[in-house]
Amino acid sequence: MTGRNMQHIMGQGAVQKSATRMDSIPFSTIRTMFERVSHLEQSGQSVIHLDVGRPEFDTPEHIKQASVKALRDGQVHYTSNYGLPQLREAIAKKLMLDNLLEFDPDNEVIVTAGVSEAIMISMLSLVNPGDEVLILDPQFPAYAMATRMAGGIPMSVPVYANNAYQPVKADLQACLSHRTRMLVIASPGNPTGVVLSETTLRMLADFAISHDLLVMSDEIYEKLIYDNQQHISIASLPGMRSRTLTLNGFSKSYSMTGWRLGYVAADASLIQALVRIHQNTVVCANTFAQWGAVVALTGTQQPLLDMVNELDRRRLFMIEQLAKISGVAFQRPQGAMYIYVDVSVLTDNAYQLANDLLNDKHIAVVPWDQHHIRLAYGSNYKNLKVALTRLGEFLLKETV
Ligand SMILES: Cc1ncc(COP(=O)(O)O)c(C=O)c1O
Repeated sequence: MTGRNMQHIMGQGAVQKSATRMDSIPFSTIRTMFERVSHLEQSGQSVIHLDVGRPEFDTPEHIKQASVKALRDGQVHYTSNYGLPQLREAIAKKLMLDNLLEFDPDNEVIVTAGVSEAIMISMLSLVNPGDEVLILDPQFPAYAMATRMAGGIPMSVPVYANNAYQPVKADLQACLSHRTRMLVIASPGNPTGVVLSETTLRMLADFAISHDLLVMSDEIYEKLIYDNQQHISIASLPGMRSRTLTLNGFSKSYSMTGWRLGYVAADASLIQALVRIHQNTVVCANTFAQWGAVVALTGTQQPLLDMVNELDRRRLFMIEQLAKISGVAFQRPQGAMYIYVDVSVLTDNAYQLANDLLNDKHIAVVPWDQHHIRLAYGSNYKNLKVALTRLGEFLLKETV
């Protein structure tokens, strides 16, 4: 045995350096919290999860059955890089019926391994090194990370609680430069649960057209929407179809986070670029999972409607209970499954607060920045009741 092999077996190899681009890619706070909680749970401690954005519902049975059947039928090989034709047909039909968008399933839709991959391949294929990408902030972290991996520069456009998290033109204008290439929006949004109003979307569309920007519209929470709000796809507004990437997926609406399925719909010229990254990385999304997704879109939508009703009940409960706790402030979320809570009256270190809450009360939340925590209400009603009581006790202690 050579010395080198021996060293390998003994686990004593030199620490290897990662690529310099990794210097600007920290571990995600959400995942870090998730890992910490997992350790606690492995040691036998039960923890209530207000951290991960996962609806605590099983994938509907008819969707699972379709995938089981596909497996049994030998649907175990690659599909087209664009995705299963039957799924692309179903996606194109859904976009037409729900979103008033017309896309050719042959070359204007690509099925991805979750919206996460969709974000990454969009950035890698359309953003040049040095290009700037405007991202409404607070934001889902993957947008900035993917921008950086593409060599681009993420520019945070602040949105404020006192304007119900609707962006204003002056703030967009302040972040604009000759390098600006793309605007990223998400409605309903994570972490604020904001639903961008039609007026806001029209303003954003005008802005994108006047400055010749691409728009990435993350619509993964489209169906998780409450208070009679209406989802509008920005691509359906005049002049927007050719410059917009509409991202959506199955994780949230159909409780399929582990299936890893999403999609992008955009003009063929844009999809041509995306597919070349996809075919050299993921190749195609999981084949038998795609068969389940066909049925998710074409089968009964009743489980989705039931889930949204139940999530709404949980949302209203959370809003009512949080309103009774002094020292916290929040905007009523109208979509997604989160409440973004301002704890600045209590602390300058929301990270420490989240840690203490986990250690003392066994409640997992995500610290979003120094002054905010995000509470996800995907967990079941009984757990939410316990969590809110414990959160109230904990925060009361923080105020005295
Ligand atoms: C706004 C937003 N976009 C995308 C994703 C990623 O979803 P997927 O499971 O489809 O990769 C998430 C997941 O939480 C999200 O909140």
